[in-house]
Amino acid sequence: MRIGVLTGGGDCPGLNAAIRAIVRRASADSVDVLGIRNGWLGLVENDCLELTRSAVIGILPRGGTILGTSRFNPLKDEQSVVRLKENWETHKLSGLVVVGGEGSLSAARDLWRDHQLQIVGIPKTIDNDICGTDFTFGFDTAVSIVTDAIDRLHSTAESHHRVMVVEVMGRHTGWIAAYGGIAGGADVVLVPEHPFRISRVCDLLEHRKKDGHLFSIVVVAEDAHPHPDEAFLTEDQSNAIYRHNRLGGIGEALAAEIERCTDIQTRVTKLGYVQRGGSPTPFDRILATRFGIKAYEMIQEGRWGQMAALRGTRIMAVPLDDAVHDLKRLDEEIYRVAEVFFG
Ligand code: F6P
Repeated sequence: MRIGVLTGGGDCPGLNAAIRAIVRRASADSVDVLGIRNGWLGLVENDCLELTRSAVIGILPRGGTILGTSRFNPLKDEQSVVRLKENWETHKLSGLVVVGGEGSLSAARDLWRDHQLQIVGIPKTIDNDICGTDFTFGFDTAVSIVTDAIDRLHSTAESHHRVMVVEVMGRHTGWIAAYGGIAGGADVVLVPEHPFRISRVCDLLEHRKKDGHLFSIVVVAEDAHPHPDEAFLTEDQSNAIYRHNRLGGIGEALAAEIERCTDIQTRVTKLGYVQRGGSPTPFDRILATRFGIKAYEMIQEGRWGQMAALRGTRIMAVPLDDAVHDLKRLDEEIYRVAEVFFG
Protein backbone atom coordinates (compact mmCIF):
# COMPACT_ATOMS: atom_id res chain seq x y z
CA MET A 1 0.00 0.00 0.00
CA ARG A 2 1.19 3.51 -0.78
CA ILE A 3 -0.25 6.81 0.45
CA GLY A 4 0.69 10.35 -0.57
CA VAL A 5 1.20 13.52 1.43
CA LEU A 6 1.40 17.13 0.30
CA THR A 7 1.63 20.51 2.03
CA GLY A 8 -0.17 23.42 0.34
CA GLY A 9 -0.72 27.15 0.87
CA GLY A 10 1.37 29.40 3.12
CA ASP A 11 3.89 27.47 5.18
CA CYS A 12 3.72 27.39 8.97
CA PRO A 13 5.61 25.84 11.88
CA GLY A 14 4.52 22.24 12.50
CA LEU A 15 4.28 21.01 8.89
CA ASN A 16 7.37 18.85 9.28
CA ALA A 17 6.05 17.43 12.55
CA ALA A 18 2.88 16.33 10.70
CA ILE A 19 4.86 14.80 7.81
CA ARG A 20 7.08 12.94 10.27
CA ALA A 21 4.07 11.57 12.18
CA ILE A 22 2.43 10.24 9.01
CA VAL A 23 5.65 8.55 7.87
CA ARG A 24 6.43 7.06 11.28
CA ARG A 25 2.89 5.74 11.74
CA ALA A 26 2.75 4.35 8.20
CA SER A 27 6.16 2.69 8.44
CA ALA A 28 4.98 0.77 11.52
CA ASP A 29 2.44 -0.90 9.16
CA SER A 30 4.96 -1.19 6.29
CA VAL A 31 2.91 1.29 4.27
CA ASP A 32 4.92 3.41 1.79
CA VAL A 33 4.59 7.19 1.84
CA LEU A 34 5.06 9.31 -1.28
CA GLY A 35 5.96 12.93 -0.59
CA ILE A 36 4.56 15.34 -3.19
CA ARG A 37 6.56 18.52 -3.69
CA ASN A 38 5.16 22.05 -3.73
CA GLY A 39 1.53 21.34 -2.93
CA TRP A 40 -0.91 20.30 -5.66
CA LEU A 41 1.60 21.38 -8.29
CA GLY A 42 3.80 18.37 -7.49
CA LEU A 43 0.98 15.93 -8.24
CA VAL A 44 0.27 17.66 -11.56
CA GLU A 45 3.96 17.73 -12.52
CA ASN A 46 4.78 14.36 -10.98
CA ASP A 47 7.39 15.91 -8.71
CA CYS A 48 7.54 13.37 -5.89
CA LEU A 49 9.93 11.53 -3.58
CA GLU A 50 9.74 8.46 -1.39
CA LEU A 51 9.49 9.42 2.28
CA THR A 52 11.28 6.74 4.21
CA ARG A 53 11.80 6.72 7.95
CA SER A 54 15.32 8.02 7.51
CA ALA A 55 14.03 10.90 5.32
CA VAL A 56 12.17 12.35 8.30
CA ILE A 57 14.89 12.05 10.93
CA GLY A 58 15.51 15.36 12.69
CA ILE A 59 12.68 17.31 11.05
CA LEU A 60 10.35 17.59 14.10
CA PRO A 61 11.72 20.94 15.34
CA ARG A 62 12.29 22.45 11.91
CA GLY A 63 10.07 25.24 10.58
CA GLY A 64 8.76 25.31 7.00
CA THR A 65 8.12 22.10 5.08
CA ILE A 66 10.64 19.65 3.66
CA LEU A 67 8.17 19.09 0.79
CA GLY A 68 7.95 22.73 -0.27
CA THR A 69 4.59 24.39 -0.83
CA SER A 70 2.66 26.56 -3.28
CA ARG A 71 -0.75 28.15 -3.67
CA PHE A 72 -1.34 26.35 -6.98
CA ASN A 73 -4.97 25.30 -7.48
CA PRO A 74 -5.32 22.31 -9.87
CA LEU A 75 -9.02 22.97 -10.35
CA LYS A 76 -8.36 26.18 -12.25
CA ASP A 77 -7.87 24.22 -15.50
CA GLU A 78 -9.08 20.83 -16.68
CA GLN A 79 -5.70 19.73 -18.00
CA SER A 80 -4.19 19.93 -14.51
CA VAL A 81 -6.90 17.67 -13.11
CA VAL A 82 -6.30 15.14 -15.90
CA ARG A 83 -2.55 15.08 -15.23
CA LEU A 84 -3.08 14.93 -11.48
CA LYS A 85 -5.30 11.84 -11.89
CA GLU A 86 -2.78 10.19 -14.26
CA ASN A 87 0.02 10.66 -11.72
CA TRP A 88 -2.25 9.36 -8.96
CA GLU A 89 -2.70 6.17 -11.03
CA THR A 90 1.02 5.92 -11.88
CA HIS A 91 1.90 5.91 -8.20
CA LYS A 92 -1.05 3.68 -7.31
CA LEU A 93 -1.99 5.86 -4.37
CA SER A 94 -4.50 4.34 -1.94
CA GLY A 95 -5.08 7.70 -0.31
CA LEU A 96 -3.71 11.22 -0.01
CA VAL A 97 -3.20 13.44 3.05
CA VAL A 98 -3.56 17.12 2.19
CA VAL A 99 -2.03 19.35 4.85
CA GLY A 100 -3.41 22.78 4.05
CA GLY A 101 -5.34 25.91 4.83
CA GLU A 102 -8.65 27.00 3.40
CA GLY A 103 -7.47 27.04 -0.25
CA SER A 104 -5.79 23.61 -0.33
CA LEU A 105 -8.54 22.00 1.74
CA SER A 106 -11.25 23.43 -0.55
CA ALA A 107 -9.47 21.85 -3.53
CA ALA A 108 -9.23 18.59 -1.51
CA ARG A 109 -12.97 18.71 -0.83
CA ASP A 110 -13.76 19.33 -4.53
CA LEU A 111 -11.42 16.60 -5.80
CA TRP A 112 -13.05 14.14 -3.42
CA ARG A 113 -16.63 15.26 -4.10
CA ASP A 114 -16.39 15.73 -7.87
CA HIS A 115 -13.64 13.25 -8.85
CA GLN A 116 -13.88 10.66 -6.05
CA LEU A 117 -10.19 10.95 -5.18
CA GLN A 118 -9.53 9.33 -1.81
CA ILE A 119 -8.40 12.31 0.22
CA VAL A 120 -8.25 13.27 3.90
CA GLY A 121 -7.20 16.65 5.28
CA ILE A 122 -5.14 18.18 8.06
CA PRO A 123 -5.77 21.84 8.94
CA LYS A 124 -2.72 24.08 9.24
CA THR A 125 -2.34 27.84 9.23
CA ILE A 126 -1.01 30.53 11.52
CA ASP A 127 -4.36 32.32 11.00
CA ASN A 128 -6.47 29.74 12.92
CA ASP A 129 -9.35 30.54 10.56
CA ILE A 130 -10.50 26.99 9.64
CA CYS A 131 -13.97 25.94 10.83
CA GLY A 132 -14.49 22.54 12.43
CA THR A 133 -11.34 22.60 14.57
CA ASP A 134 -10.69 24.58 17.74
CA PHE A 135 -7.10 25.22 16.66
CA THR A 136 -4.91 24.78 13.62
CA PHE A 137 -1.22 24.14 14.14
CA GLY A 138 1.07 27.07 13.40
CA PHE A 139 -1.18 29.47 15.30
CA ASP A 140 0.36 28.91 18.73
CA THR A 141 3.86 29.54 17.36
CA ALA A 142 2.74 32.73 15.61
CA VAL A 143 1.11 33.97 18.82
CA SER A 144 4.28 33.29 20.79
CA ILE A 145 6.34 35.25 18.22
CA VAL A 146 3.88 38.18 18.40
CA THR A 147 3.93 38.07 22.20
CA ASP A 148 7.72 38.13 22.28
CA ALA A 149 7.77 41.07 19.84
CA ILE A 150 5.25 43.04 21.94
CA ASP A 151 7.32 42.37 25.09
CA ARG A 152 10.36 43.82 23.33
CA LEU A 153 8.45 46.78 21.92
CA HIS A 154 7.16 47.65 25.40
CA SER A 155 10.61 48.57 26.68
CA THR A 156 11.52 50.81 23.75
CA ALA A 157 8.03 52.39 23.70
CA GLU A 158 8.35 53.15 27.41
CA SER A 159 11.82 54.68 27.06
CA HIS A 160 10.73 57.04 24.27
CA HIS A 161 7.14 57.70 25.50
CA ARG A 162 5.83 56.54 22.16
CA VAL A 163 2.86 54.76 20.69
CA MET A 164 3.97 51.54 19.02
CA VAL A 165 1.71 50.14 16.33
CA VAL A 166 2.30 46.43 15.69
CA GLU A 167 0.83 45.02 12.48
CA VAL A 168 0.21 41.28 12.54
CA MET A 169 -1.00 38.69 10.01
CA GLY A 170 -4.23 36.69 10.19
CA ARG A 171 -5.76 37.30 6.77
CA HIS A 172 -9.49 38.08 7.20
CA THR A 173 -9.67 37.14 10.89
CA GLY A 174 -8.34 38.63 14.11
CA TRP A 175 -7.19 35.49 15.95
CA ILE A 176 -3.46 36.31 15.94
CA ALA A 177 -4.10 39.96 16.82
CA ALA A 178 -6.43 39.16 19.73
CA TYR A 179 -4.40 36.29 21.22
CA GLY A 180 -1.10 38.14 20.70
CA GLY A 181 -2.60 41.34 22.07
CA ILE A 182 -3.97 39.67 25.19
CA ALA A 183 -0.73 37.76 25.85
CA GLY A 184 1.43 40.82 25.20
CA GLY A 185 -0.73 43.27 27.17
CA ALA A 186 -1.70 45.49 24.25
CA ASP A 187 -3.60 48.71 25.02
CA VAL A 188 -5.67 48.54 21.83
CA VAL A 189 -6.35 45.57 19.53
CA LEU A 190 -7.93 46.16 16.10
CA VAL A 191 -9.40 43.19 14.24
CA PRO A 192 -11.26 42.65 10.94
CA GLU A 193 -14.37 41.50 12.83
CA HIS A 194 -14.81 44.97 14.40
CA PRO A 195 -14.26 47.97 12.11
CA PHE A 196 -12.54 50.57 14.29
CA ARG A 197 -13.27 54.24 14.87
CA ILE A 198 -10.04 56.18 14.70
CA SER A 199 -11.49 58.81 17.07
CA ARG A 200 -11.97 56.13 19.75
CA VAL A 201 -8.43 54.81 19.27
CA CYS A 202 -6.98 58.31 19.63
CA ASP A 203 -9.18 59.09 22.67
CA LEU A 204 -7.96 55.93 24.41
CA LEU A 205 -4.33 56.82 23.72
CA GLU A 206 -4.75 60.43 24.89
CA HIS A 207 -6.50 59.31 28.07
CA ARG A 208 -3.67 56.92 28.81
CA LYS A 209 -1.23 59.77 28.43
CA LYS A 210 -3.28 62.07 30.70
CA ASP A 211 -3.40 59.25 33.29
CA GLY A 212 0.39 59.16 33.27
CA HIS A 213 0.88 56.16 31.00
CA LEU A 214 3.31 57.72 28.58
CA PHE A 215 3.50 54.86 26.10
CA SER A 216 1.02 52.55 24.40
CA ILE A 217 0.95 49.43 22.28
CA VAL A 218 -1.62 49.13 19.48
CA VAL A 219 -1.94 45.75 17.76
CA VAL A 220 -3.60 45.89 14.35
CA ALA A 221 -4.54 42.89 12.21
CA GLU A 222 -3.57 43.20 8.56
CA ASP A 223 -7.22 43.20 7.43
CA ALA A 224 -8.61 45.52 10.12
CA HIS A 225 -10.72 48.28 8.50
CA PRO A 226 -11.61 51.77 9.68
CA HIS A 227 -15.34 52.20 10.31
CA PRO A 228 -16.95 53.71 7.15
CA ASP A 229 -18.24 56.64 9.25
CA GLU A 230 -14.64 57.55 10.07
CA ALA A 231 -12.78 56.51 6.95
CA PHE A 232 -9.34 58.11 6.82
CA LEU A 233 -7.62 56.09 4.07
CA THR A 234 -7.42 57.45 0.54
CA GLU A 235 -8.68 55.20 -2.24
CA ASP A 236 -5.09 54.53 -3.31
CA GLN A 237 -4.10 53.57 0.23
CA SER A 238 -7.10 51.26 0.53
CA ASN A 239 -6.31 49.55 -2.77
CA ALA A 240 -2.68 49.06 -1.75
CA ILE A 241 -3.48 47.73 1.75
CA TYR A 242 -6.42 45.41 1.11
CA ARG A 243 -5.19 43.51 -1.94
CA HIS A 244 -6.71 40.07 -2.47
CA ASN A 245 -4.37 37.53 -0.80
CA ARG A 246 -1.70 40.21 -0.34
CA LEU A 247 -2.70 42.25 2.68
CA GLY A 248 -0.41 44.67 4.49
CA GLY A 249 0.17 48.32 5.25
CA ILE A 250 -2.69 49.30 7.57
CA GLY A 251 -0.14 49.69 10.41
CA GLU A 252 1.77 52.41 8.57
CA ALA A 253 -1.39 54.37 7.68
CA LEU A 254 -2.79 53.97 11.20
CA ALA A 255 0.42 55.16 12.83
CA ALA A 256 0.46 58.28 10.65
CA GLU A 257 -3.16 59.06 11.54
CA ILE A 258 -2.59 58.51 15.28
CA GLU A 259 0.41 60.83 15.24
CA ARG A 260 -1.54 63.47 13.29
CA CYS A 261 -4.55 63.36 15.65
CA THR A 262 -2.81 62.98 19.02
CA ASP A 263 0.57 64.59 18.50
CA ILE A 264 2.14 61.59 20.27
CA GLN A 265 5.24 60.22 18.55
CA THR A 266 4.18 56.97 16.90
CA ARG A 267 6.20 54.20 15.31
CA VAL A 268 5.15 51.08 13.44
CA THR A 269 6.49 47.52 13.33
CA LYS A 270 5.14 45.15 10.70
CA LEU A 271 5.96 41.64 11.91
CA GLY A 272 5.27 40.03 8.53
CA TYR A 273 6.73 36.64 7.66
CA VAL A 274 8.67 36.36 10.92
CA GLN A 275 5.34 35.10 12.30
CA ARG A 276 5.47 32.06 10.03
CA GLY A 277 9.10 31.16 10.43
CA GLY A 278 11.22 29.12 12.79
CA SER A 279 10.71 26.21 15.12
CA PRO A 280 7.18 25.22 16.24
CA THR A 281 6.18 25.52 19.90
CA PRO A 282 5.61 22.27 21.83
CA PHE A 283 1.83 22.80 21.49
CA ASP A 284 2.11 22.97 17.69
CA ARG A 285 4.50 20.00 17.51
CA ILE A 286 2.08 17.89 19.52
CA LEU A 287 -1.04 19.04 17.65
CA ALA A 288 0.62 18.46 14.25
CA THR A 289 1.80 15.03 15.40
CA ARG A 290 -1.68 14.07 16.63
CA PHE A 291 -3.24 15.30 13.36
CA GLY A 292 -0.70 13.27 11.36
CA ILE A 293 -1.49 10.06 13.24
CA LYS A 294 -5.22 10.69 12.97
CA ALA A 295 -5.01 11.35 9.21
CA TYR A 296 -3.21 8.04 8.71
CA GLU A 297 -5.91 6.23 10.69
CA MET A 298 -8.61 8.02 8.69
CA ILE A 299 -7.07 6.65 5.49
CA GLN A 300 -7.07 3.14 6.95
CA GLU A 301 -10.74 3.58 7.87
CA GLY A 302 -11.65 5.05 4.46
CA ARG A 303 -12.91 8.31 5.94
CA TRP A 304 -12.59 10.15 2.63
CA GLY A 305 -13.53 13.79 2.39
CA GLN A 306 -12.87 14.30 6.11
CA MET A 307 -10.34 16.29 8.11
CA ALA A 308 -8.55 15.69 11.40
CA ALA A 309 -9.74 18.27 13.94
CA LEU A 310 -9.23 19.29 17.55
CA ARG A 311 -12.44 19.54 19.56
CA GLY A 312 -11.75 20.38 23.17
CA THR A 313 -8.92 18.01 24.03
CA ARG A 314 -9.89 15.26 21.57
CA ILE A 315 -8.79 14.68 17.99
CA MET A 316 -11.60 13.64 15.67
CA ALA A 317 -12.65 13.45 12.03
CA VAL A 318 -14.98 16.14 10.65
CA PRO A 319 -16.30 16.58 7.08
CA LEU A 320 -14.05 18.78 4.91
CA ASP A 321 -17.24 20.39 3.69
CA ASP A 322 -17.96 21.79 7.18
CA ALA A 323 -14.37 22.98 7.46
CA VAL A 324 -14.20 25.05 4.29
CA HIS A 325 -17.72 26.41 3.85
CA ASP A 326 -16.82 29.60 5.73
CA LEU A 327 -13.94 31.23 7.59
CA LYS A 328 -13.82 30.79 11.37
CA ARG A 329 -14.13 34.35 12.65
CA LEU A 330 -12.60 35.52 15.91
CA ASP A 331 -14.56 34.27 18.91
CA GLU A 332 -16.50 37.21 20.35
CA GLU A 333 -15.64 36.14 23.92
CA ILE A 334 -11.92 36.43 23.14
CA TYR A 335 -12.43 39.90 21.68
CA ARG A 336 -14.30 40.98 24.82
CA VAL A 337 -11.36 39.83 26.94
CA ALA A 338 -8.94 41.88 24.82
CA GLU A 339 -11.29 44.87 25.05
CA VAL A 340 -11.19 44.93 28.87
CA PHE A 341 -7.60 46.13 28.59
CA PHE A 342 -8.17 48.88 26.01
CA GLY A 343 -6.91 52.24 27.21
O1 F6P B 1 -2.45 32.39 5.61
C1 F6P B 1 -1.23 32.64 6.21
C2 F6P B 1 -0.71 33.99 5.81
O2 F6P B 1 0.55 34.19 6.42
C3 F6P B 1 -1.64 35.16 6.11
O3 F6P B 1 -1.62 35.52 7.47
C4 F6P B 1 -1.12 36.19 5.17
O4 F6P B 1 -2.10 37.16 4.85
C5 F6P B 1 -0.77 35.38 3.96
O5 F6P B 1 -0.53 34.06 4.42
C6 F6P B 1 0.42 35.83 3.18
O6 F6P B 1 0.50 35.02 2.05
P1 F6P B 1 1.75 34.90 1.06
O7 F6P B 1 2.71 33.93 1.66
O8 F6P B 1 1.16 34.37 -0.20
O9 F6P B 1 2.33 36.28 0.91
